[in-house]
Amino acid sequence: MNILIIGGGGFVGQKLAHKLAEGGTLRGTAISKIVLADIIDPAPVDASFPVETTTCNIADAASVADVLTGDIQVIYLLAAIVSAHAEEDFDLGWQINMMGAMHVLERARALGTKPVIVFTSSIAVYGGEVPDPIIDHTFLNPQTSYGAQKAVGELLLNDYSRKGFVDGRGFRLPTISVRPGKPNRAASSFMSSILREPLNGQEAVCPVEDDFLHYYLSPRKCVENLIRGAEIPAADLGQNRCMMMPGRMWSIRQLIDAMTAVAGPDPATRIRWDAQPEIKRIVSGWRFDLRPEKAIKLGLEADASFEDNIRYYLEDDQPAS
Ligand SMILES: NC(=O)c1ccc[n+]([C@@H]2O[C@H](COP(=O)([O-])OP(=O)(O)OC[C@H]3O[C@@H](n4cnc5c(N)ncnc54)[C@H](O)[C@@H]3O)[C@@H](O)[C@H]2O)c1
Repeated sequence: MNILIIGGGGFVGQKLAHKLAEGGTLRGTAISKIVLADIIDPAPVDASFPVETTTCNIADAASVADVLTGDIQVIYLLAAIVSAHAEEDFDLGWQINMMGAMHVLERARALGTKPVIVFTSSIAVYGGEVPDPIIDHTFLNPQTSYGAQKAVGELLLNDYSRKGFVDGRGFRLPTISVRPGKPNRAASSFMSSILREPLNGQEAVCPVEDDFLHYYLSPRKCVENLIRGAEIPAADLGQNRCMMMPGRMWSIRQLIDAMTAVAGPDPATRIRWDAQPEIKRIVSGWRFDLRPEKAIKLGLEADASFEDNIRYYLEDDQPAS
């Protein structure tokens, strides 16, 4: 089993690579090789089998052809630029998030090997005038370019799968929190930084009110779900290979209370409240009650509580002081 992780230098890609390296199998078969491809040189990952790292730009079809070779059985397509970045740079967003997906699918089709492709979509595909709660069959109505690019990626994945060119599966990720490292250019970045920075003894700014509701999943569960996602038998996916990944709805107040329950009262005192209308405009488009019934039936899971998300951050990611 050879696996290619495109976007393998990123947050989810690195965590996925470490988890696969630890487990050593996917789809019931021993992993022989993982290739981590990214526009930046991915950090190496230790495993009992070879893990290669390479650079690749998915906006360039030739670059995709160099890394996507006929011996790859499973592709994780994680590479993307995130929401606020794609909103700021319209052309780059479409080139990477949409054309990049097209290049990967076209290359897979040309190879004729029908690889499994796991595509990370986003709950940002929903928005505007849609019924609440959102079920798997609610129509996609993205209100950002990023969401529109992911929605097109889903349609492509479905059509290339229907034609038998690839065995695709797409998962609309909730906001993954607590994200380690530094703030990124996602409009949702504060949904991790208001926890991560205070847990690390630093100040953070919250740009929305404390009753702001949103849909979350921990990195640990996200990676487990991506592994399960590759393993679902194709016949169980039905006529739409894209679905929500399970998460849970929490308010900002509930996140902070969970942090206090796990780490004591000090971290919450490091949060500064400063309304930012542009961030609020983007993230308010994602305020929905989501019901990920299909994914739950197929064995994907949400976290049991937000306290778990905080504990996972402290166990897996908190920098040593
Ligand atoms: N983290 C979240 O909360 C979240 C939520 C919804 C969806 N997603 C999706 O999950 C995936 C992984 O997210 P993440 O949080 O790890 O993001 P990330 O930004 O940490 O990782 C994405 C990686 O893609 C790489 N990349 C960007 N442009 C590229 C290009 N042209 N060619 C090759 N590589 C390129 C980046 O260098 C980066 O390493 C993305 O597709 C993202 O849209 C993430």
